Amino acid sequence: MEQLKQLRAQAEQAIQNCDTLSKLNDCRVEYLGKKGPLQEAMKEMKNLDPADRPAFGASVNEIKSFIASLIEEKKAELEVKEMNERLEKEKIDITLDGFEPNLGNVHPLTLVQQELEDLFIGLGYTVAEGPEVEMDLYNFERANIPHGHPARDMQDTFYIDAERLLRTHTTAIQTRQLEAHAPKLPIKVICPGKVYRRDDDDATHSHQFTQMEGLVVAEGIQLSDLKGTLEFMAKKMFGDKRVIRFRPSYFQFTEPSVEVDVSCHICNGKGCPVCKHTGWIEILGAGMVHPNVLEMAGYDSTKCSGFAFGVGVERVAMLKYGIDDIRHFYTNDVRFLKVFSRFD
Ligand code: PHE
Repeated sequence: MEQLKQLRAQAEQAIQNCDTLSKLNDCRVEYLGKKGPLQEAMKEMKNLDPADRPAFGASVNEIKSFIASLIEEKKAELEVKEMNERLEKEKIDITLDGFEPNLGNVHPLTLVQQELEDLFIGLGYTVAEGPEVEMDLYNFERANIPHGHPARDMQDTFYIDAERLLRTHTTAIQTRQLEAHAPKLPIKVICPGKVYRRDDDDATHSHQFTQMEGLVVAEGIQLSDLKGTLEFMAKKMFGDKRVIRFRPSYFQFTEPSVEVDVSCHICNGKGCPVCKHTGWIEILGAGMVHPNVLEMAGYDSTKCSGFAFGVGVERVAMLKYGIDDIRHFYTNDVRFLKVFSRFD
């Protein structure tokens, strides 16, 4: 009985000293396990006087449940302690500033292209695209510019081989559209896309730039339809006060051909550096689709007619937003690009 008392005190002390759950578990195995001192004590019982056995047995059981309850208590205490330690260690400081995600925005050329597309879709046009690596056939021949014709020199071309090139104008999409639709009428498409020319890059030239071609073919289309359409576009893009004028020009694929000027949106036509003091700004080339172009695509040019125009998207963007160097569009300086985030 004396030994049991000592064991009780010893176990109590050992449990109190446990500072981790794993040490506590070791303690439990040590005192309450099959090979522990209490099991041993039970085995000793047979050596006792039968009269002392019940009291001894009750004592052993009392110590067992005492130790078990001490262990439970300690376990609860240590669980809370370990949880607190983990919480302390794994704490996330939610007061720390986060990183602001760097959001991109729509490129100014895309903005202008979308604005032009919206405007023409509103007029009932559909949008058509074509390949940038184009066949000589669609870029030149079907545009009434045969091999060896001096008009080819107007557009310095990146050739890939004798038959293929990087398209020099979106007129290549126009000739494809004509072929795809013939002999159906009407055609009413806009054809935006990148084009390439062997130009030396400077403030106003880029070897790659963006055009948008417009093409309408139907019965009885006239030059006045072209003028009305382009004036509507000029007003939408540069303000209600804009007017346009036609000047005679030359393109192999249109006849007659015109150069189109818009009254200056900066000075309202009075004269300023932007319009080089003329009051007018040249924005595009246009004309009536040449009968040869219609015939080559499979249309009867005595039964239908059409107009076409090609607008430089960079040029429109530069005028609209006062950008003085075409290279800004392609050098991807985020300080420049970010300016356009407010138009998204
Ligand atoms: N393709 C011409 C150019 O690139 C523009 C144009 C298109 C002119 C359609 C007339 C009609 O300069």
